[in-house]
Amino acid sequence: MIRLGVNIDHVATVRNARGELHPDPVYAAKFAKKSGADSITIHLREDRRHIKDFDTKKICSIKNLPVNLEISTNFKIVKIALKVKPDFICLVPENRKEITTEGGLNLNKNKTKIKNIISKFKKKKIRTSLFINPSLNDVKISKEVGADCIEIHTGRLAHLVKSKKNYSKELNRIKNSSILANKLSIEVHAGHGLDYKTTKILTKIKQIKEFNIGHYLIGESIFYGFDKVIKNFKKIIKKK
Ligand code: PXP
Repeated sequence: MIRLGVNIDHVATVRNARGELHPDPVYAAKFAKKSGADSITIHLREDRRHIKDFDTKKICSIKNLPVNLEISTNFKIVKIALKVKPDFICLVPENRKEITTEGGLNLNKNKTKIKNIISKFKKKKIRTSLFINPSLNDVKISKEVGADCIEIHTGRLAHLVKSKKNYSKELNRIKNSSILANKLSIEVHAGHGLDYKTTKILTKIKQIKEFNIGHYLIGESIFYGFDKVIKNFKKIIKKK
């Protein structure tokens, strides 16, 4: 079964715009699950621009709700993650000035640090994924440092598709990285910038077992409703 992870960061973005409590990301997490989401993704950023510490704590304590917590390798954030114990961790690069996560981790530069962080999560039996660019070298390093999964950054592919440019080379990079990861027994996930069209394109890569989708899904929900949009994505993922 291919899984859909619903990223609810932007429910918190809307809430934070008013500095009050509505719309509540905890409610969104439970609602998404009822509508068919297989897991919930939240990103506790160092600048706390969307999800806050109290959201993280509450969402990670909801029963029967698999939570994928995205975090940077900052030691204070890692410490919080070890305390709230989500089901899954996804390590991502973080740059204070970026609007959203701009690329995959720099694994060459941070190999030892990442290996140490993964071993801490392994001790707590938390599945750890690395957000990487579609690169064979990065897949090999992911194996070396002990990652359970990789999440391939699909932002470049999404951009090429949306701007009607030739995306076959980028799709091949994603495909080859997925094939290698699968051979190395690393589970493959994909995320960033995905909409209905790009998700459909990626479902052709049979090694991808999980899609994590946020911005477009929340944006479409304004027009068509959260429940309907989640169901639409589930249908696309199921069809293959
Ligand atoms: N996966 C990861 C690792 C991310 O950092 C993000 C963005 O927070 C997403 C998926 C979701 O991307 P988008 O909001 O563009 O769908």
